[in-house]
Amino acid sequence: MAHRILITMDDLEAAVRLNAALEAAGFETSTVSALDDVKAAVLREDPDLLLLTGGLHEPAAARLLSLVRDGHVATLGLLEPTDADAATAASRMGLTATVVKPADAAETVALCRRLIERKRLQERTGILGDHPAIQEVLIKIEQMAPVTSTVLIEGESGTGKELVARAIHDLSPRRAKPFIAVNCAALPESLLESELFGHEKGSFTDAVERRLGRFEIADTGTIFLDEVGEMPRATQVKLLRVLEEREFYRVGGAAAIKVDVRVVAATNRPLRDAMAAGELRSDLYYRLNVLSIYLPPLRERRSDIPLLVRRFIHEFSKQHDRPFRGIEPAALQILVDAPWPGNVRQLRNLVESMVVLAPTSEIRAEDIPREIREQGRERLLPVRVPGVAREVAGQELTYIVQSLLDLRLQVEDLRRRLEEHPQRVEVIEVPHEAPDTEVFGGFPDVEPGGREGVGRSGRSVPTVVYELGMSMAQVERATIEAALAQTRGNRRKAAEMLGIGERTLYRKLKEYEGGEGAVSTPT
Ligand SMILES: Nc1ncnc2c1ncn2[C@@H]1O[C@H](COP(=O)(O)OP(=O)(O)OP(=O)(O)O)[C@@H](O)[C@H]1O
Ligand SMILES: [Mg+2]
Repeated sequence: MAHRILITMDDLEAAVRLNAALEAAGFETSTVSALDDVKAAVLREDPDLLLLTGGLHEPAAARLLSLVRDGHVATLGLLEPTDADAATAASRMGLTATVVKPADAAETVALCRRLIERKRLQERTGILGDHPAIQEVLIKIEQMAPVTSTVLIEGESGTGKELVARAIHDLSPRRAKPFIAVNCAALPESLLESELFGHEKGSFTDAVERRLGRFEIADTGTIFLDEVGEMPRATQVKLLRVLEEREFYRVGGAAAIKVDVRVVAATNRPLRDAMAAGELRSDLYYRLNVLSIYLPPLRERRSDIPLLVRRFIHEFSKQHDRPFRGIEPAALQILVDAPWPGNVRQLRNLVESMVVLAPTSEIRAEDIPREIREQGRERLLPVRVPGVAREVAGQELTYIVQSLLDLRLQVEDLRRRLEEHPQRVEVIEVPHEAPDTEVFGGFPDVEPGGREGVGRSGRSVPTVVYELGMSMAQVERATIEAALAQTRGNRRKAAEMLGIGERTLYRKLKEYEGGEGAVSTPT
């Protein structure tokens, strides 16, 4: 199907000329004049690209862009040669790309094609960003996806390494096969080997039965080796063998097992450094580093921050059922200036918390946590205290990073143990503490899954009890029912108490009418 392009008539000469060239190149085009026409046309025709031939600084253009930038439409703006800082302004407004007039027809046609293809790829992979570095990453993903060579992804924490690994798998011929992720830093050596290669029954004390390793499970698919630089040296030898021979032995096993697995590896710190420090075998380094992708930290592509913020606001306001207008320019500026040591993950988490907590339907400067506001200012006005900086950057920083890493490993380890031994979790009781007021009292009977308990006031209060075998949907239903009991059926108050939108609550109750999340556990 031909791609659709909508062209504004602000610059009649450019619009007519480019319209003819785009039509001749096989695009379906239409031209529109007044802003209202464009809005209606965007909604009606669902174009792939919107070409703004002028008036980029007009409020009308900004309003129009705010209409399309949360969708799948690429936007190209034609700039006047006199527009000094127009490129920056364009990125603020959310234009995908700009061209300075007079726009060469052949070049503009080629650019339109690239922008549309790229937008599609971004929608498919979830990788956002118009910065040239991200565009390069997207091009590499497209080139690397179809082959089976090993890919190494490098980048700081939270820059999107796992997102890229999944994109490579999803665009590859293996997309219907398993994608298996293993965090090589989260497990001690003995467990990691059995995790990767499996073990035979009786090969060690806890090996009560044969277990398949991740490489076997990933057969015909992709294995994602996260934090590969942290792998113990003994395991590195075994990994090298898999990469070279595509075969391995289960722990305690005598037969070589052959697999067809594509390896994608990732690392937070440059692998070359790990090799230089003697922590990574050099032969493994070269085996892993066949094709490589580098993800720059967010502070090196600040022009993408407005786009990321807008998309995350859109996503979370939908998810949390909170209608949101957006973000004030002053607040956006603070986010653009912040240092973002946790990169996109940190930005995304912050936007989610602000969408949930902001008292109005717009993020204002005062809604941004103080430490983010101050860090940004520090970057703009660097104040150095002699001696301290070196101290912090040296031993102290290493200590902080090490402690954080340790903490993360412990959390990963706990999570894994929980997943492996769910039967050890028996009953989690969440008694509700009732304040000493007259708000509670005289509750209707509570459905299965919900119970009645006694609060501080001595009155009975609904309590949610988790019983072994209950699903998440059942726990959710019991919680909603307890909240409704507590608010004596007042849906608005119950929704408020649960921190969800009233509409979400309403929808869930409708689902329950249809029988979803029913609790079968007897009380
Ligand atoms: N370019 C991007 N566009 C949209 N979302 C992104 C982008 N990069 C990262 N994210 C989001 O940020 C979060 C962190 O990404 P991801 O887990 O891929 O990072 P990572 O590099 O693997 O981090 P770590 O090293 O800590 O494991 C995810 O929610 C991801 O969806
Ligand atoms: Mg990761």
